[in-house]
Amino acid sequence: MARKKIIAGNWKMNMTPSQAVELVNTLKPLVANDAVDVVFCVPAIDIIPAMEAAKGTNIHIGAENMYFEEKGAYTGEISPAMLVDAGVKYVIIGHSERREYFAETDETVNKKVLKAFEHNLTPIICCGETLTQREQGVTIDFVRQQIKIAFLNVTAQQAASAVVAYEPIWAIGTGKVATTEQAQEVCKAIRDCIAEIYDDATAAAIRIQYGGSVSASNASELFAQADIDGGLVGGASLKPDFGQIVNY
Ligand code: G3H
Repeated sequence: MARKKIIAGNWKMNMTPSQAVELVNTLKPLVANDAVDVVFCVPAIDIIPAMEAAKGTNIHIGAENMYFEEKGAYTGEISPAMLVDAGVKYVIIGHSERREYFAETDETVNKKVLKAFEHNLTPIICCGETLTQREQGVTIDFVRQQIKIAFLNVTAQQAASAVVAYEPIWAIGTGKVATTEQAQEVCKAIRDCIAEIYDDATAAAIRIQYGGSVSASNASELFAQADIDGGLVGGASLKPDFGQIVNY
């Protein structure tokens, strides 16, 4: 069965709650496309107002992060149960900005992935190499390692429902998009790695996004690749361009 594309915006640390409502209202007529899954991953404080504004539309509101413990003395963190209670289905895990600025590791990413599945949340699991790693020719090895650790103790059934976002760090927010060949090559390597860990059926089911300077002008070519099932979009998800990306 063909995989349904999933196109997610990652708002990062942008939009106050009232701006979030305004942006959802602006974008909702532009992203009304039931042929793809449309997700807006928003700051925690925007989840409830964005959810209200998106009511009755095809937009899923997702989270940008969550903690791997159930509850307790973890000041400032958001639990999976809080997300579920708010109506969230998708949560970004292990974005490179979380890894770089908030000391997230492959091991904490794995803990979060397991906890998300425990709560029936769909993780959007991020991976991707630095410019140095690409220049040294170790991209595939590095990404395979990230994937293998992220999926430790994840069942095949859970893995089949996951989303992986391949985001070369050098392409994030830089305007330097990976070529379609580069993006396809790594997304295929990720799918092959999933087939090795699990089986062909799981590899055929999992959805793999590309992220890194996705725009209205490059989305259709990227999303036409055999192993690219949509995108994780930063900057362009805050603009009407996101409508063009969703209707690529
Ligand atoms: O999560 C999204 C990525 O970090 C891509 O961001 O589209 O602004 O390059 P960007």
